[in-house]
Amino acid sequence: MKIDASNPQYHIRDQSMNEQHQLIFGAINLLYDAMIDRDPPEIIKALFEQLAEFVDAHFTSEEALMAESRFPKLNEHRSEHAYFLARVRILQHNFQTGRKHTQISQTIESLCEWISDHVLTHDKDFDRWTAESQLTSRNQKVT
Ligand SMILES: [Fe+2]
Ligand SMILES: [Fe+2]
Repeated sequence: MKIDASNPQYHIRDQSMNEQHQLIFGAINLLYDAMIDRDPPEIIKALFEQLAEFVDAHFTSEEALMAESRFPKLNEHRSEHAYFLARVRILQHNFQTGRKHTQISQTIESLCEWISDHVLTHDKDFDRWTAESQLTSRNQKVT
């Protein structure tokens, strides 16, 4: 199953993070369709490259945001990101070395599940933490 990118459950307060999530969801869904449709390898290769690029860029900026705001779970979050990016790259490598479309599309489904769960659990955790710490610092200024 693909990701329902329009589902409001994925929405977080930071607009640029939302936009980057949408790029990743779009890229992963395109890749899934291309696998199911058995598109030519050059197209799939390009889609893998695009996905890896979006994921890498997003993780870098999200981690920078977390470091800037001194998010206490940064290290844990960073490991989650590293795990996912490694999985994307392994899958990309497997495709280039001739694994079957059906095997890869099943694994892409698991990437969809992972990224969906990551945003809903870990990114939302950061989102809540940011909102709470902004509220606390505002209250401290008032009192
Ligand atoms: Fe994240
Ligand atoms: Fe994210």
